[in-house]
Amino acid sequence: MTGPITTHRHGNVLVIVSDNPPVNALGAAVRQGIESAVKEGVVDDTVHAMVIRCDGRTFFAGADITEFGKPMAEPVLPILVDMIEAADKPIVAAIHGTALGGGCEVALACHYRIAVPSAKLGFPEVKLGLLPGAGGTQRAPRLAGVPLALEMCAKGDPIAAKRALDAGLIDKLAGEDSLEADAITFARGMIGKPLPRASHKTAKPDPQAVEAFTKANARRFRGFEAPEANIACVVKATEVPYEEGVQFERQQFMELMMGVQSAAQRHIFFAERKASKIDGIADDIRLRDIKKVGVIGAGTMGGGISMNFLSAGIPVTIVEMQQEALDRGTGIIRKNYEATAAKGRLTAEQVDKAMGLLTPTLDFDALADCDLVIEAVYENMDVKKEVFTRLDGIVKQGAILASNTSYLNINEIAAVTKRPQDVLGMHFFSPANVMKLLEVVRGDKTADDVLATVMALAKKIRKVAVVAGVCYGFVGNRMLMPRQVEAMKLLMEGATPEQIDKVHVDFGMPMGPFQMSDLAGVDIGWHRDPSRIENIRDALAAEKRWGQKTKAGWYDYDDKRNPSPSPRVAEIIDEFRKKSGATQHVVTDEEIVERTLYPMVNEGALILAEGKAQRASDIDVVWIYGYGWPVYRGGPMFWADTEGLKKIVAGLEKHGFDVAPLLKAKAEKGERFTA
Ligand code: 3HC
Repeated sequence: MTGPITTHRHGNVLVIVSDNPPVNALGAAVRQGIESAVKEGVVDDTVHAMVIRCDGRTFFAGADITEFGKPMAEPVLPILVDMIEAADKPIVAAIHGTALGGGCEVALACHYRIAVPSAKLGFPEVKLGLLPGAGGTQRAPRLAGVPLALEMCAKGDPIAAKRALDAGLIDKLAGEDSLEADAITFARGMIGKPLPRASHKTAKPDPQAVEAFTKANARRFRGFEAPEANIACVVKATEVPYEEGVQFERQQFMELMMGVQSAAQRHIFFAERKASKIDGIADDIRLRDIKKVGVIGAGTMGGGISMNFLSAGIPVTIVEMQQEALDRGTGIIRKNYEATAAKGRLTAEQVDKAMGLLTPTLDFDALADCDLVIEAVYENMDVKKEVFTRLDGIVKQGAILASNTSYLNINEIAAVTKRPQDVLGMHFFSPANVMKLLEVVRGDKTADDVLATVMALAKKIRKVAVVAGVCYGFVGNRMLMPRQVEAMKLLMEGATPEQIDKVHVDFGMPMGPFQMSDLAGVDIGWHRDPSRIENIRDALAAEKRWGQKTKAGWYDYDDKRNPSPSPRVAEIIDEFRKKSGATQHVVTDEEIVERTLYPMVNEGALILAEGKAQRASDIDVVWIYGYGWPVYRGGPMFWADTEGLKKIVAGLEKHGFDVAPLLKAKAEKGERFTA
């Protein structure tokens, strides 16, 4: 047999093996191969049982997502899984790695499942805006009950083999290194016994569990279509026979598949993976060894940055100027780890291990033998230049020197060293130990291997890294600026902070521009002179309305940090409106979208044209992972494509913006930014 599926015999057991790197996705050739192998096993009288397993790093990790949206070659997965289950000889799924999506559905359709302890099972389809479309929503509740089926289908997080065993999703754990042998023995033991078929079982209705689950996850699911469809399918499994349930599942699956949300989420799945690839640099470039990291600054940023490396088992030397600041910073790192441990997500030993890798010091010279040093000091060019001049004199040759600046020119910083080829930007987002995004800023002289090393390192510390070019604010903050400018103008023309924020939250952002300002601190970047009031921000800051931390900012806050509109802010806005002479009008929600979000797309087009981002999908990744742009809208550039670029251009022109030439050209040619 050629193709990804091969078979071999162990006495009366037929072993069906898939080898379809990298993740054994269930593409057409795999489905066809499994179909003919199972048929072969069924008709061959000398075969009494079958085992399905995979070579390589994982059991089937799902349907082949690249086939979605195109005509499907036969057999389609729903038919294939039913055919497996209908076989009249025991079929055992032998699972290692991750049995995900369609892979998990193949496993559940087999009569038995055996897995190595390190294996995981799950239905991540919801993260692609979908649901398990090959019987998964119908078999999972029949095997494991409604609560677990809801968790798995509607949230999409995989579960460990042991939990799957306890829940009845798998039948046995195999030895970590003896999966095939154990599966064959197990299969042989089942010969002649009645065949358990998941679809023949009944799933007990559990309306309380459904209600509690829906309520508990309301925030997480806000704006998404797929979780609700997943829940509806699981509920259906408790109400109707399997044949009817899968029809419902199929119809729901197709609706989601044809919708914009799933297209957006699939776009982001591939965009995230593409972002790690650097145009013009070979995949096999030799990387520098990063065994020890130095961080300068033990403030919120420096501490958060350090935690990423400590958690990945990489020793960190953290440097501060004052003992008190160093102790405070180290204390916060420990407190953060302990809070995670208290939630059961880390053991006490893991906390001790991470803290054991941290060397706090006041001695700058201790950075000498670090392979990478990240500076996270005050955002000021002179200060940064001083730090880099000092680093240049201390740190060993060949080390990478990075700045965590969020705006400043990396070329200028690099120029104060004698090794600009070793300098780049590593822009983490706050809180740096939590936020997934890392903008890696490539200076004009940054060496290819330096860039590639940092991109690879980002993966090790579980960040999603995007390459950005040198420009004010790089990709993310540069696009944020026109949004902020317009939001302030809209205030002057008659909108309120509440209205603008609501439009953004309804759009799916975690918060609006004013809520964001209150969270970050209204006083950030303020000149600190209460008598100098040049804009509304100065007026708020002068009255100590610094945001959530002083319980007053653009909003008033109660003790639980619940916001309410502030009459005082309304007064201040009113004073400035009068002074500004701006014409007042009724600002509609539509105008807010056109004036705050369209300019971001415009700026994105400029960034692309200037080559400051490698591709439009990278910009989308920045906004999804750095600023909480709703993933179901696929990022600003994908969103612009779905809105239609002509509409975006018309909106920008209506409000008097200069339209970026690239955006205009694409709109005229009927092109898109993203594939
Ligand atoms: N289809 C097509 N390609 C896939 C794929 C899939 N299901 N899963 C992964 N790939 C590709 C990736 O795009 C990547 O390609 P690249 O090397 O060209 O960039 C490559 O495989 C390796 O993937 P990762 O970089 O993600 O590898 P990791 O080792 O980090 O992770 C994984 C492995 C956990 C399996 C992860 O790839 C993953 O989560 N995959 C998606 C799983 C999924 O969503 N399955 C459900 C699919 S939908 C479905 O099954 C519908 C059904 O119900 C009908």
